[in-house]
Amino acid sequence: MEINKIMVIGAGQMGSGIAQVCAQAGYNVYLNDLKQDFVERGLGVINKNLSRQVDKERMTAGEMDEVLSRLTPSTTLQDAKAVDLVIEAAVENMEIKTKIFSDLDAIAPEHAILASNTSSLPITEIAAATKRPEQVIGMHFMNPVPVMKLVEIIRGLATADEVYEAIETMTNNLKKVPVEVNDFPGFVSNRILMPMINEAVYTLYEGVATKEAIDEVMKLGMNHPMGPLTLADFIGLDTCLYIMETLHEGFGDDKYRPCPLLRKYVKAGWLGKKSGRGFYVYE
Ligand code: CAA
Repeated sequence: MEINKIMVIGAGQMGSGIAQVCAQAGYNVYLNDLKQDFVERGLGVINKNLSRQVDKERMTAGEMDEVLSRLTPSTTLQDAKAVDLVIEAAVENMEIKTKIFSDLDAIAPEHAILASNTSSLPITEIAAATKRPEQVIGMHFMNPVPVMKLVEIIRGLATADEVYEAIETMTNNLKKVPVEVNDFPGFVSNRILMPMINEAVYTLYEGVATKEAIDEVMKLGMNHPMGPLTLADFIGLDTCLYIMETLHEGFGDDKYRPCPLLRKYVKAGWLGKKSGRGFYVYE
């Protein structure tokens, strides 16, 4: 199962990061989104990241041009007819994802692997929207993609061993570390991370300490690079809430109940860094 050409669907924060690391590893990549504007914004972020590498003399201007030449903008899923792997990084919505996967199933070549970067939605259910569930897999990258080493690889119920191995090899080629995980709500990363973040929000809600104090305890006491409330703002409070709801519904256990304060912030449109305000205010 040789992988040369890739399509990344979604040119947002995650999709553009994934496209960047794939192009840097030598793969030819279509960066796809619904509108040309979105794709251009994603390419702009990649350009900025690579320019920083050139400034730091970790890459030459010539190498940067080569990486950029491997990225092709795309606004139609029809481009998937020429690829060996699709990595979907669209919005976290099951209806949208199953529609994308069923469309891709009709367009992508028979041998192509269809991967999702979903942070918590069941891979098995996404795979059921296709006639090739054995070729559907989860590739969960962490934010910021160019920096974070982990790719959590999620096996759906039907994922074939050869498909897992091809994605494991490809992840190594990206100079990332693959970790194998089975398909359960939140996988491993978000099953552990999100309840910690939710507990930090409860700690604030119950007036145990200020937001700054909560973050400082976890940064200095546990050596976390960011405190949990800063991290929640960085991830997006809507995403955190959505993942907590997925855990709550998936396991049916009260311990995953989202904190009312998290719900309130999301209802207020305080979504974190991306909206300019979450637990903190961003200029
Ligand atoms: N894109 C590309 N590179 C970035 C970047 C971005 N968005 N943000 C930071 N960097 C790079 C910087 O250029 C810098 O590179 P060099 O060291 O090579 O010069 C390096 O990262 C460190 O950056 P800074 O010095 O500016 O800041 P920092 O030391 O505080 O690190 C951080 C920033 C890497 C984001 C760090 O704070 C961190 O690791 N935070 C935790 C991140 C985390 O937990 N991510 C997982 C979130 S959960 C998730 O993604 C999954 C999910 O499903 C929700």
